Amino acid sequence: MTNKKILITGGAGFIGSHVVRLFVNKYPDYHIYNLDKLTYAGNLKNITDIENAPNYTFIKADLVDAIEINNLFDKYGFTDVIHLAAESHVDRSITNPMDFVMTNVVGTVNLLNAAKTAWKDNMSDKLFYHVSTDEVYGSLHDDGFFLESTPYDPQSPYSASKAASDHFVRAYHNTYKIRVVISNCSNNYGPNQFPEKLVPLFINNIRNNKPLPVYGKGENVRDWLYVVDHARAIDDVFHKGNVGETYNIGGFNEWTNIDLIKVICKAMDKRLGRHEGESEKLISYVTDRAGHDLRYAIDANKIMNELGWKPSLQFEEGIEKTIDWYMDNQVWMDEVTSGDYQNYYNKMYASH
Ligand code: NAD
Ligand code: DAU
Repeated sequence: MTNKKILITGGAGFIGSHVVRLFVNKYPDYHIYNLDKLTYAGNLKNITDIENAPNYTFIKADLVDAIEINNLFDKYGFTDVIHLAAESHVDRSITNPMDFVMTNVVGTVNLLNAAKTAWKDNMSDKLFYHVSTDEVYGSLHDDGFFLESTPYDPQSPYSASKAASDHFVRAYHNTYKIRVVISNCSNNYGPNQFPEKLVPLFINNIRNNKPLPVYGKGENVRDWLYVVDHARAIDDVFHKGNVGETYNIGGFNEWTNIDLIKVICKAMDKRLGRHEGESEKLISYVTDRAGHDLRYAIDANKIMNELGWKPSLQFEEGIEKTIDWYMDNQVWMDEVTSGDYQNYYNKMYASH
Protein backbone atom coordinates (compact mmCIF):
# COMPACT_ATOMS: atom_id res chain seq x y z
CA MET A 1 0.00 0.00 0.00
CA THR A 2 1.35 3.45 -0.90
CA ASN A 3 1.59 6.25 1.61
CA LYS A 4 -1.36 8.27 0.47
CA LYS A 5 -2.15 11.71 1.87
CA ILE A 6 -5.92 11.81 1.58
CA LEU A 7 -7.90 15.02 1.97
CA ILE A 8 -11.37 14.17 3.27
CA THR A 9 -13.72 17.18 3.30
CA GLY A 10 -16.68 17.42 5.67
CA GLY A 11 -15.23 14.89 8.10
CA ALA A 12 -16.80 16.55 11.14
CA GLY A 13 -20.28 16.02 9.68
CA PHE A 14 -22.52 12.98 9.80
CA ILE A 15 -21.28 10.72 6.98
CA GLY A 16 -17.82 12.27 6.81
CA SER A 17 -17.09 11.40 10.45
CA HIS A 18 -17.80 7.73 9.75
CA VAL A 19 -15.61 7.83 6.63
CA VAL A 20 -12.73 9.51 8.49
CA ARG A 21 -12.95 6.95 11.31
CA LEU A 22 -12.95 4.02 8.89
CA PHE A 23 -9.94 5.31 6.91
CA VAL A 24 -7.88 6.34 9.97
CA ASN A 25 -8.37 2.96 11.64
CA LYS A 26 -8.20 0.72 8.58
CA TYR A 27 -5.28 2.36 6.77
CA PRO A 28 -2.51 3.27 9.23
CA ASP A 29 -0.14 3.90 6.27
CA TYR A 30 -2.37 6.63 4.88
CA HIS A 31 -2.44 10.09 6.40
CA ILE A 32 -5.97 11.44 6.65
CA TYR A 33 -6.48 15.20 6.54
CA ASN A 34 -9.99 16.16 7.62
CA LEU A 35 -10.92 19.60 6.25
CA ASP A 36 -14.10 21.09 7.67
CA LYS A 37 -15.51 24.57 8.16
CA LEU A 38 -17.38 23.45 11.29
CA THR A 39 -20.72 24.88 10.28
CA TYR A 40 -23.73 24.14 12.48
CA ALA A 41 -23.57 20.57 11.06
CA GLY A 42 -19.89 19.98 11.79
CA ASN A 43 -19.00 18.71 15.24
CA LEU A 44 -15.55 17.47 16.23
CA LYS A 45 -17.16 15.51 19.07
CA ASN A 46 -18.27 13.09 16.33
CA ILE A 47 -14.67 11.88 16.04
CA THR A 48 -13.01 12.24 19.44
CA ASP A 49 -12.01 8.55 19.31
CA ILE A 50 -9.51 9.16 16.49
CA GLU A 51 -8.47 12.78 17.08
CA ASN A 52 -5.07 11.79 18.53
CA ALA A 53 -4.25 9.11 15.96
CA PRO A 54 -0.78 9.63 14.43
CA ASN A 55 -2.18 9.39 10.88
CA TYR A 56 -4.84 12.09 11.39
CA THR A 57 -4.80 15.89 11.05
CA PHE A 58 -7.75 18.27 11.37
CA ILE A 59 -7.82 21.43 9.24
CA LYS A 60 -10.45 24.09 9.86
CA ALA A 61 -11.08 25.77 6.50
CA ASP A 62 -13.84 26.98 4.21
CA LEU A 63 -13.98 25.49 0.70
CA VAL A 64 -15.32 28.79 -0.59
CA ASP A 65 -11.91 30.39 0.14
CA ALA A 66 -10.01 29.44 -3.04
CA ILE A 67 -6.68 30.92 -1.94
CA GLU A 68 -6.69 29.00 1.32
CA ILE A 69 -7.59 25.73 -0.43
CA ASN A 70 -4.72 26.20 -2.92
CA ASN A 71 -2.32 26.94 -0.06
CA LEU A 72 -3.39 23.78 1.76
CA PHE A 73 -2.62 21.64 -1.31
CA ASP A 74 0.85 23.27 -1.44
CA LYS A 75 1.41 22.81 2.28
CA TYR A 76 0.29 19.20 2.67
CA GLY A 77 0.74 17.66 -0.79
CA PHE A 78 -2.57 15.78 -0.84
CA THR A 79 -2.49 12.77 -3.18
CA ASP A 80 -6.24 12.13 -3.20
CA VAL A 81 -9.50 13.85 -2.31
CA ILE A 82 -12.70 12.35 -0.91
CA HIS A 83 -15.14 15.24 -1.04
CA LEU A 84 -18.14 15.09 1.30
CA ALA A 85 -18.41 18.66 2.62
CA ALA A 86 -21.71 20.21 1.62
CA GLU A 87 -24.76 22.02 2.79
CA SER A 88 -26.96 18.94 3.03
CA HIS A 89 -30.45 19.77 4.29
CA VAL A 90 -33.24 20.21 1.71
CA ASP A 91 -35.41 22.44 3.98
CA ARG A 92 -32.51 24.86 4.52
CA SER A 93 -31.92 24.97 0.76
CA ILE A 94 -35.51 26.14 0.30
CA THR A 95 -35.04 29.07 2.69
CA ASN A 96 -31.43 29.90 1.78
CA PRO A 97 -30.38 28.55 -1.63
CA MET A 98 -27.29 30.76 -1.98
CA ASP A 99 -25.46 28.95 0.87
CA PHE A 100 -25.88 25.80 -1.24
CA VAL A 101 -24.55 27.47 -4.39
CA MET A 102 -21.51 28.73 -2.49
CA THR A 103 -20.45 25.57 -0.68
CA ASN A 104 -21.75 22.87 -3.00
CA VAL A 105 -20.96 24.47 -6.36
CA VAL A 106 -18.28 27.13 -5.78
CA GLY A 107 -16.63 25.06 -3.03
CA THR A 108 -16.43 21.99 -5.27
CA VAL A 109 -15.00 23.97 -8.19
CA ASN A 110 -12.42 25.55 -5.87
CA LEU A 111 -11.38 22.08 -4.78
CA LEU A 112 -11.19 20.85 -8.38
CA ASN A 113 -9.08 23.87 -9.37
CA ALA A 114 -6.71 23.33 -6.46
CA ALA A 115 -6.32 19.64 -7.38
CA LYS A 116 -5.83 20.50 -11.07
CA THR A 117 -3.01 22.94 -10.23
CA ALA A 118 -1.33 20.78 -7.61
CA TRP A 119 -1.50 17.58 -9.66
CA LYS A 120 -0.69 19.02 -13.10
CA ASP A 121 2.72 17.33 -13.44
CA ASN A 122 1.47 13.88 -12.53
CA MET A 123 -2.19 13.02 -12.49
CA SER A 124 -1.71 9.29 -12.92
CA ASP A 125 -1.66 8.27 -9.25
CA LYS A 126 -4.15 10.86 -7.96
CA LEU A 127 -7.91 10.48 -7.45
CA PHE A 128 -10.70 13.00 -6.88
CA TYR A 129 -13.70 11.18 -5.36
CA HIS A 130 -16.91 13.20 -5.23
CA VAL A 131 -19.63 11.97 -2.85
CA SER A 132 -23.10 12.81 -4.14
CA THR A 133 -26.74 11.98 -3.65
CA ASP A 134 -29.57 10.11 -5.35
CA GLU A 135 -31.61 13.35 -5.27
CA VAL A 136 -29.84 14.52 -8.46
CA TYR A 137 -32.01 12.03 -10.39
CA GLY A 138 -35.23 13.76 -9.33
CA SER A 139 -38.35 12.01 -8.13
CA LEU A 140 -39.77 8.58 -9.01
CA HIS A 141 -43.42 7.57 -9.20
CA ASP A 142 -44.60 4.24 -7.84
CA ASP A 143 -42.18 1.99 -9.68
CA GLY A 144 -38.70 1.94 -11.20
CA PHE A 145 -35.28 2.66 -9.75
CA PHE A 146 -32.51 5.21 -10.23
CA LEU A 147 -29.77 3.72 -12.39
CA GLU A 148 -26.34 5.27 -13.03
CA SER A 149 -27.68 6.10 -16.51
CA THR A 150 -30.84 7.87 -15.27
CA PRO A 151 -30.84 11.46 -16.58
CA TYR A 152 -30.35 14.17 -13.98
CA ASP A 153 -33.57 15.99 -13.02
CA PRO A 154 -32.96 17.77 -9.69
CA GLN A 155 -36.01 19.36 -8.10
CA SER A 156 -34.82 21.24 -5.00
CA PRO A 157 -32.16 23.93 -4.61
CA TYR A 158 -30.12 21.35 -2.66
CA SER A 159 -30.29 18.68 -5.36
CA ALA A 160 -29.72 21.28 -8.11
CA SER A 161 -26.51 22.37 -6.35
CA LYS A 162 -25.36 18.76 -5.96
CA ALA A 163 -26.19 18.04 -9.62
CA ALA A 164 -24.18 21.10 -10.67
CA SER A 165 -21.22 19.92 -8.61
CA ASP A 166 -21.42 16.43 -10.17
CA HIS A 167 -21.42 18.03 -13.65
CA PHE A 168 -18.32 20.07 -12.79
CA VAL A 169 -16.51 16.97 -11.55
CA ARG A 170 -17.28 15.13 -14.82
CA ALA A 171 -16.33 18.22 -16.85
CA TYR A 172 -12.92 18.41 -15.13
CA HIS A 173 -12.36 14.74 -15.92
CA ASN A 174 -13.24 15.26 -19.57
CA THR A 175 -11.43 18.58 -20.01
CA TYR A 176 -8.41 18.39 -17.72
CA LYS A 177 -8.09 14.62 -17.35
CA ILE A 178 -8.35 14.69 -13.57
CA ARG A 179 -9.03 11.12 -12.47
CA VAL A 180 -12.45 11.24 -10.82
CA VAL A 181 -15.06 8.89 -9.47
CA ILE A 182 -18.57 9.77 -8.23
CA SER A 183 -21.05 7.93 -6.04
CA ASN A 184 -24.73 8.75 -5.52
CA CYS A 185 -26.22 7.39 -2.33
CA SER A 186 -29.71 7.14 -0.89
CA ASN A 187 -30.85 8.40 2.55
CA ASN A 188 -28.45 7.56 5.37
CA TYR A 189 -29.38 6.97 9.00
CA GLY A 190 -27.27 6.18 12.05
CA PRO A 191 -25.25 7.81 14.84
CA ASN A 192 -24.10 11.46 14.72
CA GLN A 193 -26.70 12.80 12.28
CA PHE A 194 -27.68 16.39 12.95
CA PRO A 195 -31.22 16.42 14.42
CA GLU A 196 -32.76 18.44 11.60
CA LYS A 197 -33.06 15.23 9.54
CA LEU A 198 -36.06 12.95 9.99
CA VAL A 199 -34.62 10.06 12.02
CA PRO A 200 -32.69 11.89 14.78
CA LEU A 201 -35.28 14.70 14.93
CA PHE A 202 -38.09 12.26 15.57
CA ILE A 203 -36.11 10.19 18.10
CA ASN A 204 -35.30 13.35 20.03
CA ASN A 205 -38.85 14.70 19.84
CA ILE A 206 -40.31 11.42 21.08
CA ARG A 207 -37.85 11.41 23.97
CA ASN A 208 -38.95 14.96 24.86
CA ASN A 209 -42.67 14.35 24.22
CA LYS A 210 -42.74 16.93 21.42
CA PRO A 211 -44.90 16.78 18.25
CA LEU A 212 -43.61 14.78 15.27
CA PRO A 213 -44.09 17.03 12.21
CA VAL A 214 -44.99 14.75 9.29
CA TYR A 215 -44.88 16.62 5.98
CA GLY A 216 -48.01 16.19 3.83
CA LYS A 217 -49.60 12.78 4.25
CA GLY A 218 -46.35 10.98 5.10
CA GLU A 219 -46.62 9.02 1.84
CA ASN A 220 -43.23 10.00 0.41
CA VAL A 221 -40.82 7.11 0.04
CA ARG A 222 -37.13 7.04 0.90
CA ASP A 223 -34.53 4.25 0.55
CA TRP A 224 -32.62 3.99 3.84
CA LEU A 225 -29.01 2.85 4.33
CA TYR A 226 -27.04 2.57 7.59
CA VAL A 227 -24.29 5.20 7.53
CA VAL A 228 -21.44 2.75 8.26
CA ASP A 229 -22.48 0.76 5.19
CA HIS A 230 -22.20 3.97 3.13
CA ALA A 231 -18.70 4.52 4.56
CA ARG A 232 -17.78 0.93 3.59
CA ALA A 233 -19.09 1.56 0.09
CA ILE A 234 -16.99 4.74 -0.16
CA ASP A 235 -13.93 2.68 0.83
CA ASP A 236 -14.72 0.18 -1.97
CA VAL A 237 -15.36 2.86 -4.59
CA PHE A 238 -12.17 4.73 -3.61
CA HIS A 239 -10.00 1.61 -3.86
CA LYS A 240 -11.72 -0.43 -6.57
CA GLY A 241 -13.92 1.95 -8.58
CA ASN A 242 -13.16 2.62 -12.24
CA VAL A 243 -11.97 6.13 -13.01
CA GLY A 244 -14.60 8.32 -14.70
CA GLU A 245 -17.48 6.15 -13.49
CA THR A 246 -20.46 6.60 -11.22
CA TYR A 247 -21.68 4.13 -8.61
CA ASN A 248 -25.15 4.23 -7.08
CA ILE A 249 -25.26 3.18 -3.41
CA GLY A 250 -28.42 2.07 -1.64
CA GLY A 251 -29.90 -0.59 0.57
CA PHE A 252 -32.93 -1.76 -1.46
CA ASN A 253 -34.80 -0.65 1.63
CA GLU A 254 -37.79 1.56 0.81
CA TRP A 255 -40.15 2.94 3.42
CA THR A 256 -42.95 5.45 3.29
CA ASN A 257 -42.22 8.16 5.85
CA ILE A 258 -45.28 7.27 7.92
CA ASP A 259 -44.36 3.57 8.12
CA LEU A 260 -40.79 4.42 9.10
CA ILE A 261 -42.06 6.86 11.74
CA LYS A 262 -44.33 4.15 13.18
CA VAL A 263 -41.35 1.78 13.45
CA ILE A 264 -39.42 4.47 15.34
CA CYS A 265 -42.41 5.21 17.60
CA LYS A 266 -42.84 1.54 18.48
CA ALA A 267 -39.15 1.03 19.24
CA MET A 268 -39.11 4.20 21.36
CA ASP A 269 -42.18 3.08 23.33
CA LYS A 270 -40.27 -0.07 24.26
CA ARG A 271 -37.08 1.79 25.01
CA LEU A 272 -38.84 4.39 27.22
CA GLY A 273 -41.14 1.87 28.91
CA ARG A 274 -44.22 3.57 27.44
CA HIS A 275 -47.44 1.78 26.47
CA GLU A 276 -47.46 0.71 22.81
CA GLY A 277 -49.05 3.46 20.73
CA GLU A 278 -48.14 6.31 23.10
CA SER A 279 -45.41 7.85 20.94
CA GLU A 280 -47.59 7.61 17.81
CA LYS A 281 -49.97 10.06 19.47
CA LEU A 282 -47.27 12.71 18.95
CA ILE A 283 -47.64 12.47 15.15
CA SER A 284 -48.79 15.79 13.72
CA TYR A 285 -49.46 16.24 10.00
CA VAL A 286 -48.08 19.60 8.85
CA THR A 287 -47.82 21.58 5.60
CA ASP A 288 -45.86 19.68 3.00
CA ARG A 289 -42.27 20.59 2.04
CA ALA A 290 -42.33 22.80 -1.10
CA GLY A 291 -41.65 20.69 -4.19
CA HIS A 292 -41.40 17.55 -2.04
CA ASP A 293 -39.91 14.65 -4.08
CA LEU A 294 -42.29 11.69 -3.92
CA ARG A 295 -40.00 8.68 -4.09
CA TYR A 296 -36.29 7.80 -4.22
CA ALA A 297 -35.11 4.25 -4.88
CA ILE A 298 -31.60 3.21 -5.84
CA ASP A 299 -30.65 0.29 -8.04
CA ALA A 300 -27.38 -0.70 -6.35
CA ASN A 301 -26.61 -3.67 -8.57
CA LYS A 302 -23.56 -2.09 -10.21
CA ILE A 303 -21.59 -1.56 -6.97
CA MET A 304 -22.75 -4.96 -5.68
CA ASN A 305 -21.78 -6.89 -8.82
CA GLU A 306 -18.65 -4.99 -9.84
CA LEU A 307 -17.12 -4.05 -6.49
CA GLY A 308 -18.57 -6.79 -4.27
CA TRP A 309 -20.14 -4.33 -1.79
CA LYS A 310 -23.33 -5.12 0.06
CA PRO A 311 -25.00 -3.67 3.16
CA SER A 312 -23.86 -5.41 6.36
CA LEU A 313 -26.96 -4.59 8.42
CA GLN A 314 -30.63 -5.39 8.02
CA PHE A 315 -32.82 -2.34 8.58
CA GLU A 316 -34.42 -3.68 11.79
CA GLU A 317 -30.97 -4.08 13.37
CA GLY A 318 -29.74 -0.74 12.04
CA ILE A 319 -32.66 1.27 13.38
CA GLU A 320 -32.39 -0.40 16.82
CA LYS A 321 -28.67 0.44 16.94
CA THR A 322 -29.43 4.00 15.88
CA ILE A 323 -32.08 4.51 18.56
CA ASP A 324 -29.75 3.00 21.17
CA TRP A 325 -26.98 5.39 20.11
CA TYR A 326 -29.13 8.53 20.43
CA MET A 327 -30.58 7.39 23.73
CA ASP A 328 -27.10 6.55 25.08
CA ASN A 329 -25.64 9.84 23.84
CA GLN A 330 -28.11 12.35 25.17
CA VAL A 331 -25.33 14.74 26.12
CA TRP A 332 -24.29 14.86 22.43
CA MET A 333 -27.90 15.51 21.43
CA ASP A 334 -28.49 18.17 24.09
CA GLU A 335 -25.27 20.01 23.21
CA VAL A 336 -26.06 19.92 19.51
CA THR A 337 -29.62 21.15 19.95
CA SER A 338 -28.70 23.87 22.46
CA GLY A 339 -25.87 25.18 20.29
CA ASP A 340 -23.35 24.87 23.17
CA TYR A 341 -20.83 23.11 20.98
CA GLN A 342 -20.89 25.95 18.44
CA ASN A 343 -20.20 28.53 21.12
CA TYR A 344 -17.22 26.42 22.11
CA TYR A 345 -15.88 26.30 18.54
CA ASN A 346 -16.46 29.99 18.03
CA LYS A 347 -14.22 30.67 21.04
CA MET A 348 -11.71 27.92 20.22
CA TYR A 349 -11.19 29.05 16.60
CA ALA A 350 -11.77 32.75 17.13
CA SER A 351 -8.64 33.67 15.16
CA HIS A 352 -9.78 31.94 11.94
P1 NAD B 1 -23.65 17.07 7.07
O1 NAD B 1 -24.46 18.30 6.84
O2 NAD B 1 -23.89 16.25 8.26
O3 NAD B 1 -22.09 17.46 7.09
C1 NAD B 1 -21.53 18.35 6.17
C2 NAD B 1 -20.15 18.76 6.67
O4 NAD B 1 -19.58 19.67 5.71
C3 NAD B 1 -20.18 19.48 8.03
O5 NAD B 1 -19.18 18.96 8.88
C4 NAD B 1 -19.89 20.93 7.66
O6 NAD B 1 -19.22 21.64 8.69
C5 NAD B 1 -19.01 20.78 6.42
N1 NAD B 1 -19.07 21.95 5.55
C6 NAD B 1 -20.19 22.61 5.13
N2 NAD B 1 -19.83 23.68 4.39
C7 NAD B 1 -18.48 23.68 4.30
C8 NAD B 1 -17.53 24.52 3.66
N3 NAD B 1 -17.92 25.61 2.97
N4 NAD B 1 -16.22 24.22 3.77
C9 NAD B 1 -15.82 23.15 4.49
N5 NAD B 1 -16.67 22.34 5.15
C10 NAD B 1 -17.99 22.59 5.05
O7 NAD B 1 -23.79 16.23 5.73
P2 NAD B 1 -23.90 14.64 5.53
O8 NAD B 1 -25.31 14.24 5.68
O9 NAD B 1 -22.84 13.98 6.30
O10 NAD B 1 -23.55 14.55 3.95
C11 NAD B 1 -22.20 14.44 3.52
C12 NAD B 1 -22.19 14.35 2.01
O11 NAD B 1 -22.91 13.20 1.58
C13 NAD B 1 -22.84 15.53 1.31
O12 NAD B 1 -22.08 15.84 0.16
C14 NAD B 1 -24.22 15.05 0.94
O13 NAD B 1 -24.69 15.71 -0.21
C15 NAD B 1 -23.95 13.58 0.68
N6 NAD B 1 -25.08 12.66 0.92
C16 NAD B 1 -25.78 12.68 2.09
C17 NAD B 1 -26.79 11.75 2.32
C18 NAD B 1 -27.58 11.71 3.62
O14 NAD B 1 -28.54 10.95 3.72
N7 NAD B 1 -27.20 12.47 4.63
C19 NAD B 1 -27.09 10.80 1.35
C20 NAD B 1 -26.37 10.81 0.13
C21 NAD B 1 -25.34 11.74 -0.05
O1 DAU C 1 -31.58 10.87 -0.58
C1 DAU C 1 -30.38 11.38 -0.04
C2 DAU C 1 -30.67 12.65 0.72
O2 DAU C 1 -31.36 12.28 1.90
C3 DAU C 1 -29.41 13.44 1.05
O3 DAU C 1 -28.79 13.86 -0.14
C4 DAU C 1 -29.74 14.64 1.92
O4 DAU C 1 -28.53 15.30 2.31
C5 DAU C 1 -30.46 14.14 3.17
O5 DAU C 1 -30.84 15.25 3.95
C6 DAU C 1 -31.70 13.32 2.79
O6 DAU C 1 -32.73 14.17 2.19
P1 DAU C 1 -34.27 14.03 2.59
O7 DAU C 1 -34.93 15.30 2.29
O8 DAU C 1 -34.86 12.78 2.03
O9 DAU C 1 -34.09 13.80 4.19
P2 DAU C 1 -34.91 14.39 5.44
O10 DAU C 1 -34.43 13.65 6.65
O11 DAU C 1 -34.91 15.87 5.47
O12 DAU C 1 -36.40 13.92 5.13
C7 DAU C 1 -36.73 12.56 4.94
C8 DAU C 1 -38.21 12.51 4.58
O13 DAU C 1 -38.99 12.88 5.72
C9 DAU C 1 -38.60 13.48 3.49
O14 DAU C 1 -39.61 12.89 2.66
C10 DAU C 1 -39.17 14.67 4.24
C11 DAU C 1 -39.79 14.03 5.47
N1 DAU C 1 -39.76 14.86 6.71
C12 DAU C 1 -38.58 15.39 7.10
C13 DAU C 1 -38.49 16.15 8.23
C14 DAU C 1 -37.18 16.77 8.67
C15 DAU C 1 -40.91 15.03 7.45
O15 DAU C 1 -41.98 14.51 7.12
N2 DAU C 1 -40.83 15.78 8.58
C16 DAU C 1 -39.68 16.37 9.00
O16 DAU C 1 -39.67 17.07 10.05
